[in-house]
Amino acid sequence: MTDYGMALLWVLILASLGLSILAVLLSISRQRSHSLTVAPTAGEDVASEATRKVLREFEKNGQSPDAALVNWSPDTLRKILADDLPDAQVIVVSNREPYIHNIKDDGVELLVPASGLVSALEPITRACSGTWIAYGGGTADRLTVDSNDRVQVPPDNPSYTLRRVWLSDDEYQGYYLGFANEGLWPLCHIAFTRPVFRASDWEAYEAVNRKFADMVVAEARNERPIVLVQDYHFALLPRMIRERLPEAIIITFWHIPWPNSEVFSICPWRERVLDGLLGSSIIGFHTQFHANNFTESVDRFLESRIERADAAISYGGRTTLVHAYPISIEWPAELLAKLPPVEESRARLRERFGLSADVKLCVGVERLDYTKGILDRFHALDELFTRHPEWIGKVVFLQIAAPSRGTLPAYQQLHDECLRYANELNQRYGHDGYKPVVMVAEHHSQQQVYEIYRAADICMVTSLHDGMNLVAKEFVAARDDEQGVLLLSTFAGASRELLEALIVNPYDAAMMSQVLLQALTMSPDEQRERMRPMREIVRDNNVFRWAGSMLLDAARLRKRGDLERATSVAERPANTGSNIVSLFDRMRKVAS
Ligand code: F6P
Repeated sequence: MTDYGMALLWVLILASLGLSILAVLLSISRQRSHSLTVAPTAGEDVASEATRKVLREFEKNGQSPDAALVNWSPDTLRKILADDLPDAQVIVVSNREPYIHNIKDDGVELLVPASGLVSALEPITRACSGTWIAYGGGTADRLTVDSNDRVQVPPDNPSYTLRRVWLSDDEYQGYYLGFANEGLWPLCHIAFTRPVFRASDWEAYEAVNRKFADMVVAEARNERPIVLVQDYHFALLPRMIRERLPEAIIITFWHIPWPNSEVFSICPWRERVLDGLLGSSIIGFHTQFHANNFTESVDRFLESRIERADAAISYGGRTTLVHAYPISIEWPAELLAKLPPVEESRARLRERFGLSADVKLCVGVERLDYTKGILDRFHALDELFTRHPEWIGKVVFLQIAAPSRGTLPAYQQLHDECLRYANELNQRYGHDGYKPVVMVAEHHSQQQVYEIYRAADICMVTSLHDGMNLVAKEFVAARDDEQGVLLLSTFAGASRELLEALIVNPYDAAMMSQVLLQALTMSPDEQRERMRPMREIVRDNNVFRWAGSMLLDAARLRKRGDLERATSVAERPANTGSNIVSLFDRMRKVAS
């Protein structure tokens, strides 16, 4: 190489070294300024920093966060709201109210309904000090509200507002019993009960959805509330709210399964139902499978664009995220502290039902509903006694069945059939005061239910089809002694998480009887080995994580929307149109 060549080489080496140093310095300074904007201020706790980390990861990937980094608690939710959704008012809308006041002989009784939705949403609304709008169905509900139809709850420690909505008998009949529970409920559950669709029910459903929309608008303190719409009673509500509060974040959670598009096509108002739901910013399901079914239904029946990579649907100039958020329960369950030790719970329950101390106690706890597989449990017990008669006299099945939708023929029929079969089993296998089946078709408080879980050897959750099923998670939460066996239907969403349960097919009585035998004879060590990881799963994936993940998604949407609005003002003249759709379009243009 000539001298000139050598000199040129050195110049190039030095220049590239200089550039690298410059790049490193720039990147350090960028990181510093970034960490300055996100570092916790003095006094902020670790949970808050972890939450930020999750949000950063989330923003980076555009995917659901690895929320396992966070210890999810009411404080985490409050932090997300304060830091990432400042000034946002949380409004929950559901049909079922969290507290029902009923007239009793000796005054007014307060009842917490048997509802997974209520047990999940209640701690969330408490944590957010929100407003909960629901149908006031109790006989003393009108007597206990103020002049604005509001009551502060929980009664012993008020932390949020319950706004009651009144429905006429005709509205209740058409909207709740009719379209929601004789139409959508059997349509969405594979339980082989034929859905009934009546035009008059649909009209009532639409009118009641509008009534709730009026209420949301009336309760909203500004144009940008976060509205958490719950369940199949309100498929039209998101669109109705969107029309009147375009800036609202509307998160709709569908608590039941979503059928495949062929089954969904049975609904005469299928396009309207989908259009209504797509007024939401986010639609949540318990499982990815149901989220996919929903997306397929939209793809089939509406002119829309499916953004599979983003789990989003663009429709009518707006985008809706469609995600799976597996619902859960409060952890640690507050009421556990009020309960006696397991041994005492066992003794008390055995005394209440006159059971001897050595009998194995198997329990089922739910609303009396044909999707829950109650009769299938009876079949399994029948099968067990036929194949293993040595168990007659040694096992009792206690079924707690909260009355539900009792005026509908399908529910009356189930009630009668359950009583008939229970009596038949008791006659066939009962002797000397021993009855293998105890059926209590009465409402039980959450505390009583937890005591039953603690007293049980086995809990049977044998749904024919279920979005999640929180009984399974409650049983696990109640067993701080790490004992007890969970039999869990493969058709309940919970079976995707509680893998150490004994998973059963409720349609297969012979198989269920074998698994029942396995449960009856399981050693305490194996019970512990199975119960411990299930408790960890429920602890780490509690209901605060469920709500927190949705709120983080909402925060991301709001930030994107605000950013989009800011950029479109700078770049374009008027007509901002959709926020996210155009963001997608712009990203595409940049990529191409
Ligand atoms: O399972 C769907 C669901 O809406 C739950 O979310 C809730 O626990 C239950 O049904 C309540 O039923 P109802 O309000 O009709 O008694």
